[in-house]
Amino acid sequence: MTGVAALVSKVVENHHEDKDMLIQVLLDLQCGLGWLPQEALAEVSRQLRVPVTRVYQVASYYKAFSFAPKGRHNVTVCLGTACQVRGAPRLLDRTADLLKLAPGETSPDLRFSLNTVNCLGCCALGPVIVVDGKYHSNPSTTELQRVLGAAE
Ligand code: FES
Repeated sequence: MTGVAALVSKVVENHHEDKDMLIQVLLDLQCGLGWLPQEALAEVSRQLRVPVTRVYQVASYYKAFSFAPKGRHNVTVCLGTACQVRGAPRLLDRTADLLKLAPGETSPDLRFSLNTVNCLGCCALGPVIVVDGKYHSNPSTTELQRVLGAAE
């Protein structure tokens, strides 16, 4: 049994092989693996006895799930209206340049993933960037380099 299949077995067992727990099983796997590889989805289908199309349908519906590996550091730039007005596009451009990534991409060394979001609920701080859960309000390029450089 591969490492992925063994993890799926453990997670499915933790949820008493209950097919109604499909979302929770997928969340646990996303948490454990950092993404949902095809092998994991096929194993979930087999072990929970749920059609693989249903597993994919659920996994693609929720933004929490990823079908590609994510970076160790999650970088999110808010592109909501308030942040847009306050310069979010420039902040995104500077961030993308520093990381050499486009939004939605992960670096080949899996160090960073760059994403955008439509509002983080702190519009007065805009433009806002979040690095590993820590909010930064309108950072200068130097500050941005420091924050990103510190993320090993
Ligand atoms: S629009 Fe960016 S935090 Fe609300």
